[in-house]
Amino acid sequence: TWTPSAFVDMTVADLKEKIGNDKVVLGLSGGVDSTVAATLLHKAIGKQLYCIFVNNGLLRKDEFTSVLDQYKHMGLNVKGVDASTYFLDKLEGISDPEQKRKIIGNAFIDIFDDEAGQIKDVVYLAQGTIYPDVIESISVNGPSATIKSHHNVGGLPDFMKLKVVEPLRMLFKDEVRRVGAEMNIDAKLLGRHPFPGPGLAIRILGDITAEKVKLVQEVDHVFIQALREWKLYDKVWQAGAILLPVESVGVMGDERTYEKVVALRAVESTDGMTADWVDLPYKFLQYVSNTIINKVKGVNRVVYDISSKPPATIEWE
Ligand code: XMP
Repeated sequence: TWTPSAFVDMTVADLKEKIGNDKVVLGLSGGVDSTVAATLLHKAIGKQLYCIFVNNGLLRKDEFTSVLDQYKHMGLNVKGVDASTYFLDKLEGISDPEQKRKIIGNAFIDIFDDEAGQIKDVVYLAQGTIYPDVIESISVNGPSATIKSHHNVGGLPDFMKLKVVEPLRMLFKDEVRRVGAEMNIDAKLLGRHPFPGPGLAIRILGDITAEKVKLVQEVDHVFIQALREWKLYDKVWQAGAILLPVESVGVMGDERTYEKVVALRAVESTDGMTADWVDLPYKFLQYVSNTIINKVKGVNRVVYDISSKPPATIEWE
């Protein structure tokens, strides 16, 4: 039978043997998968692992600095690269979701390749690919339909010529978390909701500007903090805020306002392939809505998404 401790022992031994004295580069995302993959590799090869954490400017509020600190505390050999402006410049005026993904994927490759190129004689590229990513990317590339091109699978630039290591390729998310716990990774980090590679770009419908990113970060922050404070965070698979390309009429004092609408999304799921919206308490939704409208300038209306997947997807883009 499969156990996390046996998996760790076997994988660390395999990685040691496979990699030997070579250098490995890995892109950390702040998510569970890349963190667990990095920790396994760190156990196997220590400082031969070079981690790169890129700020694409589309992360959650304060996430880049707080997660980078956490990685350093874990002893990982990690370099933080703030490329926010590079990404936002490339995304200027782009509204199409698939185009956003492509641009972000390519920008990531540009930055990552630059950084990896500075590491002398690197041989391997490690990725935190898990089983559902493998499956979904097969269906994306299949003849049936284009669902969404998940850029973290298969999007390697030819010129990097690195060999790929994917220690989590056969695991589901819950197994990844158990493996992480086995290696004493902080429970708060392991319990983090999944977050898409393109980040807030696919939660801003329409074109992306620095102001919109800031706005959706603030809204998301209120929502996520409240989920934690109300002890609801761990009951939810994934949650976030979506900025709609719509303005609606409101009133403030004697004035009519015409401001942004945000949607809140919280789902239950086991693997992200199907999902149900979460029956969050009305009192909680009331608190979150009031806080957002009072605190976040430019938003006068909050709605809650009550669609399940299928036919809706988790993200709106
Ligand atoms: P959907 O919206 O397809 O999302 O129901 C399923 C899961 O995948 C995440 N997601 C992505 N992750 N790149 C990623 O790395 C992407 O382009 C992407 N699109 C969706 C989504 O957040 C959810 O966890």
